[in-house]
Amino acid sequence: MDESEVARHWESNANAWTQQARRGADVFRDALNSPAFFAMLPPVRGLRGLDVGCGEGANTRSLARLGARMSAVDIAPTFIRHARSFGEDGAPGIDYRVADGMALPFDAASFDFVTAFMSLMDMPDPARALREAGRVLRAGGFLQFSILHPCFATPHRRIVRDQEGRARAIEIGGYFEGTEGRVDRWWFSTLTEQERTGVQPFSTPIFHRTISQWLDAVTGAGLVIDKLGEPTAGADIARLAPALDETRIAPLSLHVRATKPAGARA
Ligand SMILES: C[S@@+](CC[C@H](N)C(=O)[O-])C[C@H]1O[C@@H](n2cnc3c(N)ncnc32)[C@H](O)[C@@H]1O
Repeated sequence: MDESEVARHWESNANAWTQQARRGADVFRDALNSPAFFAMLPPVRGLRGLDVGCGEGANTRSLARLGARMSAVDIAPTFIRHARSFGEDGAPGIDYRVADGMALPFDAASFDFVTAFMSLMDMPDPARALREAGRVLRAGGFLQFSILHPCFATPHRRIVRDQEGRARAIEIGGYFEGTEGRVDRWWFSTLTEQERTGVQPFSTPIFHRTISQWLDAVTGAGLVIDKLGEPTAGADIARLAPALDETRIAPLSLHVRATKPAGARA
């Protein structure tokens, strides 16, 4: 699957995704994944940042509220339209652009840091996207990204539940199968059966890679890994958001922070 087809899928998701995410349906992002990401993020106040695959812009706005001067790109024009139309709301001056994360429209060494929240595994060539992130970073700058966990969000994944419906195990398979844009169809897990009858499921092309392929892609981009994160819901969060129960067995996402070494060529 090529990039224009990926873009068509995301474009078709963008209106419903924005509407549902903004009314709190993306509980994985809001209650677990983004808080863990921000807890791992170094201070960004006063830094120039780029957010790759920004969607409707919630995480970009959080970065701007932390004091970063943000640019952000997404392949789907409707997401960028929604991001722009949100208004400033304490997140001033974000430069949003429709662009491909694998061909960034910025000069080398333009940014102090780059983020990508759950977007790189949606790109046909994540190694190229990582090289692009490395190119636009200044020497000494950092990249932090989250992806579906290569080891636990495999092409086959099934939650094994007990009689009370509690997650007890995760059945995984197909780890070594690279899915070249397999289209998954799904709703935010917080939508009721009734709500699902009224909206189309999202259609998301997935390009699964193994953990060693991801690590090779990061180091191949000239970056040095500093820190990994594997968010898991504590008992309190899982009680408030039962859909996150399964992350107590194994993480659904992997967070990676990597630095472009000082002295690296632009
Ligand atoms: C799972 S959504 C995450 C959105 C946002 N980062 C968030 O955390 O809410 C993945 C996003 O990646 C974008 N995307 C997919 N392929 C892309 C590409 N090649 N370049 C830029 N954005 C891309 C999609 O349009 C979508 O907005």
